Amino acid sequence: MATPGIRPLVAGNWKMNGSLAMASALVGDIKARHQGGALPVDLLLCPPFPYLAPVGADLAGTAIALGGQDCHVKANGAHTGDVSAAMLADLGCRFTILGHSERRTDHRESSATVAAKAKAALDAGLTAIICVGETEAQRNAGEELKIVENQLIESIPSGANVRNAVVAYEPVWAIGTGKTPTVADVAAMHRHIRALLEQRVPGGGKMRILYGGSVKPGNAAELMGVAEVNGALVGGASLKAEDFWGIAEGAAKSAG
Ligand code: PGA
Repeated sequence: MATPGIRPLVAGNWKMNGSLAMASALVGDIKARHQGGALPVDLLLCPPFPYLAPVGADLAGTAIALGGQDCHVKANGAHTGDVSAAMLADLGCRFTILGHSERRTDHRESSATVAAKAKAALDAGLTAIICVGETEAQRNAGEELKIVENQLIESIPSGANVRNAVVAYEPVWAIGTGKTPTVADVAAMHRHIRALLEQRVPGGGKMRILYGGSVKPGNAAELMGVAEVNGALVGGASLKAEDFWGIAEGAAKSAG
């Protein structure tokens, strides 16, 4: 069991992929598998903003949660093109992903910005999935534990606790590349994150720490079985129901 007493969370991050038709087919397939035999795992789908309402409608009455991929730091106002946490909550979202490495890179989001967004998410009643992870150069330099530790310290807002926040460790070099760290490296990082959460966050000993980066059905059981890994943040493989479900089955093997 990855951490006794923590139910795994398997989250699909669709990124900027799909179409209305694809979203409907994908959710229909995942729902059918879920209704065919629910797993001892929490499931979450994070489609692009325009598909939140239809996906939310499709998920109504199921135990599969809906989440966003970002939110603005402010609750409302003159911020063209942005979406607030309250709007996500309004649409039935329970989670939002924050500080994904693609946003840290594409939109130059600093950890301070991520903390402000996470605070906005908590204030709106959402659970913030706070993403951290080192680059390949940082790992090669042996700096990964320190880099992730600093990102976490700067990205976790005041008010975060075991009920309203989740950490996702996503090595930047493993995202969408097919490469994953060794089980020993994942274990070392998750142990380090757990120790930090225990020190700094109320209930941090039981906060979920997800692993993300090239998770697939073929490696899910092994990665999800690592001590202190409490689920997965899944990109590419979340766009196919069979693969997403295969990962959830892998996580279920380590569920307590
Ligand atoms: P990947 O992406 O599963 O396609 O590697 C993970 C993520 O970016 O959340």
